[in-house]
Amino acid sequence: MTRRLIEDWLPIAALGEESVRERRSMTALPPTYYLHVWWARRPLVASRAAVLGSLLPSTADRERFLHMVGIHGDPVASRRRIDAAKRKGQRFEGEAYSYSRAFGYVPTAQDRAWAADEQRKLGLTDISVLDPTAGGGSIPFESARLGYRTFGNDLNPVASIVERATIEFPFAHGMEVHRKFRHLADEYVKRREERLTHLYPKEPISDSIPTNYLWARTVRCPHCEGKVPLSPNWRLLADGTGLRFQTHLGSGPGDESRRLTFTLVHNAKDQSQGTVSGGDATCPFEDCGRLISGEEVKEQAQAGKMGEQMYAIVFRNRVVTGKTKAGKPKVKWVRDFRAPRAEDDVEQFVKSQLDEMLPEWEALDIVPTEQIGELSNYDRGHRLYGMYKWTDMFSPRQLYGHCVGVEIFRALLSEETTAGRLDESLKAAFVSST
Ligand SMILES: C[S@@+](CC[C@H](N)C(=O)[O-])C[C@H]1O[C@@H](n2cnc3c(N)ncnc32)[C@H](O)[C@@H]1O
Ligand SMILES: [Zn+2]
Repeated sequence: MTRRLIEDWLPIAALGEESVRERRSMTALPPTYYLHVWWARRPLVASRAAVLGSLLPSTADRERFLHMVGIHGDPVASRRRIDAAKRKGQRFEGEAYSYSRAFGYVPTAQDRAWAADEQRKLGLTDISVLDPTAGGGSIPFESARLGYRTFGNDLNPVASIVERATIEFPFAHGMEVHRKFRHLADEYVKRREERLTHLYPKEPISDSIPTNYLWARTVRCPHCEGKVPLSPNWRLLADGTGLRFQTHLGSGPGDESRRLTFTLVHNAKDQSQGTVSGGDATCPFEDCGRLISGEEVKEQAQAGKMGEQMYAIVFRNRVVTGKTKAGKPKVKWVRDFRAPRAEDDVEQFVKSQLDEMLPEWEALDIVPTEQIGELSNYDRGHRLYGMYKWTDMFSPRQLYGHCVGVEIFRALLSEETTAGRLDESLKAAFVSST
């Protein structure tokens, strides 16, 4: 017998629903997702089913297979019940699913013994699984959890290190690597905050922290000299939250102080029109309003004349929602947006700090000043906009932040090495590739 289960049967509907369920809550994704972002990462439950289904004979017990995959009920029927309630305009009451999400189930020794018995029928005893293009590592992760000797590979060094950190290190060192990582991460964050806090103006609302500064690239209108931030629209959320700009015309066309400022609005109809469409820009100043061609935009970019303007700030506000059983405050961090104040734009200050540090960072090979073309065929049209080096991709604040991060990381690694503490699990906690 050579036929495999996956050749004859795969519970696609159940796997499909369970895969959607795996990703439904953006705050409770499988832990592997949080280690590092990966594009096109496959759902764990589908990966496990594909690996296991390829290694069992077609005669294997299907219920047993579903159990080992973590599907311990009927996800399709659950989905139907939820959808029916939705159609009637009701909220589904109680637990829609009779079991926890499948990826949380770790195959037991009994499961593995059953699979091994089945595999003997195929003449399979010493199984290796290879994923030659493993990306974020869902397939090797599940293969390893199923207990198989597993090999993952990828030509992208980021994927490769993500795979090692996701699969190899935890399997090799267990909770020890987690403990050491937490310790390092706390120290890293502490040092980084000390070095970067002064570059972040205090939020106007107490108990708030900024999480994102949103910037638009700018060009000068060739007709009126106004500073034009480029964006196809000024939407922030689908619910109508967005921005409306005010024009400051100065003394009229030709005045270089002409600029926009922004206010936050909550209705889509109150948002201003975008300033770019199909590659061309439109001057937003009402006493000009002329077209700025895509050629002009690119020309300015290639001449290094493109600027940037902050147009919104995303922050999190600490809200106490009640008390825990132990009497501690229950805290929720609620995301909100605001328009920038004049004092939020500290980019010139950041730039001066960066300029001061750059020679040293360049000497220490901390800044990626290489030409992009030397290392990669990556091409997203950035050259058209005058970006040739990796450093051109970053704003001064981003570059400053990343370089400080590398510096602290290196310092921590060197301190631990000098102190003679760099054993294998600590090396893993550093996600050190050597
Ligand atoms: C769609 S992703 C894989 C996603 C993965 N199954 C997961 O769940 O995350 C494809 C991967 O193949 C890698 N790749 C493409 N060509 C390759 C090659 N010739 N050798 C090795 N890896 C390659 C890419 O870098 C990418 O990470
Ligand atoms: Zn203009």
